Amino acid sequence: MSERNHWHPVADGAALTDAPVAVSLLDEQLVLWRDAAGAVHAWPDRCPHRGARLSLGRIEGGRLECPYHGWQFAAGGQCVQVPALPGFEPPATHRVAAYEAQEAHGLVWVRLAAGGPPLPAFAAEDDARLRKLNCGPYDVAASAPRIVENFLDMSHFSFVHEGWLGARGMASIDDYAVEETAAGFCATGCKAWQPQSNLHSTAPAQVEYTYEVTGPYAAVLTKLPEPGTVARPDWREAIALFICPVGPERSRVWFRLAVADFDSPDERLREFQDTIFRQDQPVLESQTPKRLPLDLRAELHTRADRASATYRRHLARLGVTFGVL
Ligand code: FES
Ligand code: FE
Repeated sequence: MSERNHWHPVADGAALTDAPVAVSLLDEQLVLWRDAAGAVHAWPDRCPHRGARLSLGRIEGGRLECPYHGWQFAAGGQCVQVPALPGFEPPATHRVAAYEAQEAHGLVWVRLAAGGPPLPAFAAEDDARLRKLNCGPYDVAASAPRIVENFLDMSHFSFVHEGWLGARGMASIDDYAVEETAAGFCATGCKAWQPQSNLHSTAPAQVEYTYEVTGPYAAVLTKLPEPGTVARPDWREAIALFICPVGPERSRVWFRLAVADFDSPDERLREFQDTIFRQDQPVLESQTPKRLPLDLRAELHTRADRASATYRRHLARLGVTFGVL
């Protein structure tokens, strides 16, 4: 098992319409396209005839057509037409080897090797009362594991997000609990004092989070309701972090929000998330080594970093090799 057996997000589902799209996942070049029935497909972005990029081609009658000699491939990957030989029936060997692809959380997900866990869970997705919205993608010159760690890290709030998610002089982090889960682990009782924890905050508040690592490059933050900001006490707003590991030191990042804010337009919610992430990005891109060292002796840790230390041990246990040292 490795990261190739896990599902990874590669594109916004809405961006995939009537033309093929090129994406990179784990250093592999893929072409994504949607057939006449609306199903998504992910194939190597290379025509088996002479190696041209299929993503430069087009979709014709529910088939993907190569830009070079016009060979057409049906949804299952079989070549069904060679225009230079109109009477020729391509044999079963004339085909591309498809990867598994599916849509969830507004994104297209792919896995490169069969047999692994289901795609990262996001329980708030199923709470019909909450509003769902994707933010991003953000292209970041950092490894996916460094980005997950930053998402789990509360002790940077007072510095990187000063005036928003934290304040100098209020930087202390109370102890929190970390427990293993089936998919990863969960950190509960994570408290932060935040001047502007969301778009609607009118006063600083003590916010309590739960963090869950749900895949090698995926995590979910759930907020306990803050007084005055959430309509009902049993609602749990959540933000999922979904990362496409494009290369070992390059990532494409999405946040999926499940929130109780029904008034703000999409752009305003996205603007808030953009503001916060643009504060993280330069620090993330400055970190060296870019690949996350899994040997805990390679960097210094304190009790406030328990979640990130647990994440490193978790990646080592999973056998993840991409984006780590
Ligand atoms: Fe694709 Fe020839 S290279 S049809
Ligand atoms: Fe941050």
